[in-house]
Amino acid sequence: MEIRVEENPAATVSTLLVDTAKAGGNIVLTGGSTPKLAYEMASRAGANWSEATVWFSDERCVPPESGQSNYRMANEALLGRLSRDTRPTVHRMEGELGPVAGAAGYEALVYEHLGGQPQWDLLLLGLGPDAHCASLFPGKPEVSERRHLVTGVPLAGMEPQVPRITLTLPALNSARQVVFLITGADKAVAVKRAFADPPDPDSPAAHVRPQGGELLVLLDPAAAKELT
Ligand code: 6PG
Repeated sequence: MEIRVEENPAATVSTLLVDTAKAGGNIVLTGGSTPKLAYEMASRAGANWSEATVWFSDERCVPPESGQSNYRMANEALLGRLSRDTRPTVHRMEGELGPVAGAAGYEALVYEHLGGQPQWDLLLLGLGPDAHCASLFPGKPEVSERRHLVTGVPLAGMEPQVPRITLTLPALNSARQVVFLITGADKAVAVKRAFADPPDPDSPAAHVRPQGGELLVLLDPAAAKELT
């Protein structure tokens, strides 16, 4: 695991996204508000994403036009801003199908394209103030899921209180590179729980440790302030 504290970690994520896209990689985007800046920066690079495939770490069970949709955020900040002939293949999680059917459909798609150990080239994650990542919330049964790559989350652990669809720990830990982008003082305690030595086992993000891949934690100084 590499932890890097940077004034503008979004710029680093933007570069990683663009480089992986140009190489035609499998990229997993995440939701929440933190990655928006990185997505916008990446959209402005003028890169050709047409050989790349974009996946999602998790989704809220709402229609894709909803203001709560992770797909909508990624589309507005990045995917929809790319000129048409340079856009990637996009596999969004169909939140509108609900957690059970939506998760089953996405898992089938992952198996079809990447098999049972999906080696995503770049998998981006954020961290919640409660140390959740993707839609794996502390104390919820989905954190213990080991058979499935994708699961439904009937009860979210945080706002917005809508059911979710999420990649599971086995799916996250199959990636070649996992990158956490975390900014702001309100995440500092969660950062400590997830990435201090030793981490807090009750933090779902503490279990994101790709077996055959790299883990990069990108923090701004405020998010890093509880780490020694
Ligand atoms: C979601 C996310 C989630 C997010 C964290 C951090 O659907 O909410 O994918 O895991 O990354 O909650 O969110 P913020 O960036 O908004 O703080």
